[in-house]
Amino acid sequence: MRGVIIMGSSRSNGNTAKVATYVQEQTGFDVIDLKQFKIGHFDYAVQDNDDFRRLFKMIVDQYDSLIFATPIYWYTMSGIMKVFFDRISDFLFVEKDEGRKLRGKNMAVISCGSDHEVFEGFEMPFKQSATYLGMHYIGHVHTYIKNEQIPVDLQHSIDRFIREKLTANATNS
Ligand SMILES: Cc1cc2nc3c(=O)[nH]c(=O)nc-3n(C[C@H](O)[C@H](O)[C@H](O)COP(=O)(O)O)c2cc1C
Repeated sequence: MRGVIIMGSSRSNGNTAKVATYVQEQTGFDVIDLKQFKIGHFDYAVQDNDDFRRLFKMIVDQYDSLIFATPIYWYTMSGIMKVFFDRISDFLFVEKDEGRKLRGKNMAVISCGSDHEVFEGFEMPFKQSATYLGMHYIGHVHTYIKNEQIPVDLQHSIDRFIREKLTANATNS
């Protein structure tokens, strides 16, 4: 079992992708770019007419640490990421055994904004969702890009996050 970085940016090669790639290089974790998948909004009728069902099953079967990497759009996670969380509800309505596979897995969060800090409340939906789903919330690191790069002092913070939170709790094999 291993870790996966689930990236939810509105652009595949933007700032969040730069950070996700850096973390991937340091950890060997896989990256899943949600923008490459067709994932519709949650529907109470629980339709199976897009990529979500197959993607979710692959994630719960193959990984034990889920690292959500999201840009900050309007002080919170991206819309793409929020839709992914909404759709987890599918597996609370039908095929509940698949949803229960999240129990005991690790959740961590990487945010990427233009501000150098995050405002209070950003982490709450992740922490509470982890608790609700029976996952272990292992932490959050906030990032930003300057001149197209991750600033060196920020790299040190990311390295510490990887060392103390990610690789301490997950394997890449
Ligand atoms: C719709 C939108 C809303 C944004 N809102 C915020 C915000 O609330 N706080 C912040 O720090 N940056 C905000 N930003 C800036 C982005 O978080 C920042 O540019 C980030 O690096 C973009 O990552 P991306 O290239 O993966 O989209 C916003 C950008 C967009 C497009």
